[in-house]
Amino acid sequence: MTTMDTAVNDRYAVAGNPVAHSQSPFIHAAFAAQTAQALSYERLLCPLDDFAGSMKAFAAAGGRGSNVTVPFKFEAHALAARLSPRAKLAGAVNTLRFDQKGWFGDNTDGPGLVNDIQGNAGVSLAGKRVLLLGAGGASAGVLGSLIAARPAELVLANRTVDKAQALVDAHSEWAAEYGVQVTACSLTSCPSGFDVLVNGTSVSLSGGGVPVGPEVLAPGALAMDMMYGPAAAPFLEWTRQHGAVARDGLGMLVEQAAESFEIWRGVRPDTSQVLAALRQQLAEKTQQP
Ligand code: ATR
Repeated sequence: MTTMDTAVNDRYAVAGNPVAHSQSPFIHAAFAAQTAQALSYERLLCPLDDFAGSMKAFAAAGGRGSNVTVPFKFEAHALAARLSPRAKLAGAVNTLRFDQKGWFGDNTDGPGLVNDIQGNAGVSLAGKRVLLLGAGGASAGVLGSLIAARPAELVLANRTVDKAQALVDAHSEWAAEYGVQVTACSLTSCPSGFDVLVNGTSVSLSGGGVPVGPEVLAPGALAMDMMYGPAAAPFLEWTRQHGAVARDGLGMLVEQAAESFEIWRGVRPDTSQVLAALRQQLAEKTQQP
């Protein structure tokens, strides 16, 4: 076997259920081509009752690491022998690296979101008022990174206030470290006038509307949904109707992938061309009859 063969056998995957919709293979293939890294990246549909077995089999068959998506991010957290501080804080892992000395778990959703807002959308979070909607897995994955970007204030609003409060409490030491005020509220008692709104609820998946009033938006606010494609459309439409800058979760998807790629390969890919190509590909797909 040549050295090249060994390198090509570096397998990576996105593990989930369902996983057929995942854009990660496209993104990582583009990163690999751009950085001349010899690797393969595939979709891994894991049975709901044996995520751990699937991961172990993949590692035994040459897998070097995996992205992890719904509904396995909590199980991935439990599988990791070592965790990054942000993954520990989130209680969820979206990136596993199968190190010999014990699997390493990280969560790149938070840096993905923050890098997209600051780098791609050009909105600095420092000193801003930020409202995060939802207290499920999506919000838990990004709250720590939003705090670390040092907004003036961060409010976490959720239908079930207790869940928002629990998440805020879990981040209290972290928030104190960064000197950021983080509070919880219900969707119906949100303060108004936020510079940045991030939707981390799954309300659009169930066909619901935006669960807060437009008064939460300051003039010229950035409003972002962590979803993309048709799922994000109602939120983006509402955002535009109310004069805010709308952004879907595609940039976050590419940025979190770049962070994972660097964790695995030690190389930072450039995201701008890949994001543009992905956006074009998805637009072409939706235009097809
Ligand atoms: P995920 O892992 O995608 O975050 P989740 O853990 O099920 O999924 O969380 C879904 C989030 O969307 C929760 O914050 C949920 O609110 P509750 O904690 O009160 O359940 C929120 N959500 C779902 N449907 C909603 C709706 N119709 N209106 C408002 N919030 C909703």
